[in-house]
Amino acid sequence: MSGSCTELRPATPPAPLIDPFGRPITYVRVSVTDRCDFRCVYCMAEDMTFLPKSDLLTLEELDRLCGMFIALGTRKLRITGGEPLVRRNIMNLFKSVSRHLESGDLDELTLTTNGSQLATYAEELAACGVRRVNVSLDTRQRDKFRAITRRGELDKVMAGIDAAQRAGLHVKINMVALKGVNEAEIVPMIVWAHGRGMDLTLIEVMPLGAVGAERIDQYLPLDKVRADIARHFRLRDLDVRTGGPARYSEVEETGGRLGFITPLTHNFCESCNRIRVTCTGTLYMCLGQNASVDLRAPLRAAANDELLEAAIEAAIARKPKGHDFVIDRAHARPALQRYMSVTGG
Ligand code: 5AD
Ligand code: SF4
Repeated sequence: MSGSCTELRPATPPAPLIDPFGRPITYVRVSVTDRCDFRCVYCMAEDMTFLPKSDLLTLEELDRLCGMFIALGTRKLRITGGEPLVRRNIMNLFKSVSRHLESGDLDELTLTTNGSQLATYAEELAACGVRRVNVSLDTRQRDKFRAITRRGELDKVMAGIDAAQRAGLHVKINMVALKGVNEAEIVPMIVWAHGRGMDLTLIEVMPLGAVGAERIDQYLPLDKVRADIARHFRLRDLDVRTGGPARYSEVEETGGRLGFITPLTHNFCESCNRIRVTCTGTLYMCLGQNASVDLRAPLRAAANDELLEAAIEAAIARKPKGHDFVIDRAHARPALQRYMSVTGG
């Protein structure tokens, strides 16, 4: 793949795009596929219909898009899905984007993965300059893992985590807290993750996609989880904000970090520095809003980047102030009809 902006790189980093609320947009999450080898109950329907491959941006188009964002001041790229590592030849994208790490135009290239393919790709990812990965893991019990993911194999994910750590990647575990499902595993997960030098982030289940009554029953507010954890450990609030929805604490007994992502119970929008692009090239200005801009048409309309740049700038100028998440208990309906696998986590 050949980049579109390597030759024209400015000597000083580009000024980031600033949205109407004064927030610099420096973090872009790019979903490279809506497909996944798992079917997590809170994320996908069992009989998920995926997009036709012809709708997806090609790897070359994704590379061009990433280059454009970087030229517009993006400092951090996260590759997501679906499961990004099931996209064929995905390493070509990592290899290509890594040139922006080498040039210093990009600070971080990272990914969120379910871990099933990490044993295969950990070394290559590290060689591409990836330093950190987020791995989703809601339980360490084989049967429960199978029940939550519907088809995942825990042993493969564990082997993937081992391989990632061997390759020198910092692993952060993401665990979706599910009432009556993995509640009792939260404290043991802290001990295990921190014992292996991995941070752990707990995620409140979000009302995306086809939420049935079951999902609402599984809603477990993290305030309550935190109170439970505080009976076992001393938690010291850390002042680090990543611009995202996570708040971090240090667990004094383990020295490890514990994150809480609470999109429903707390408002985190004021410091939001991020946008998302789907695998079809739709840019979402906010995870909790339906407002979007199509980038595929401008990408395909011309080989030069003028239309694309204008479309991105116009989108940022419309970034909304905050989100509209709400679990509507009376109607068991999600606020948004969009699967997590489409926008990327
Ligand atoms: N609510 C909360 N987290 C979710 N994820 C996927 N769907 C949901 C949901 N409805 C999580 C995955 C993964 C991250 C990318 O998003 O478990 O950790
Ligand atoms: Fe796949 Fe992640 Fe969705 Fe689970 S949560 S089905 S691993 S994309």
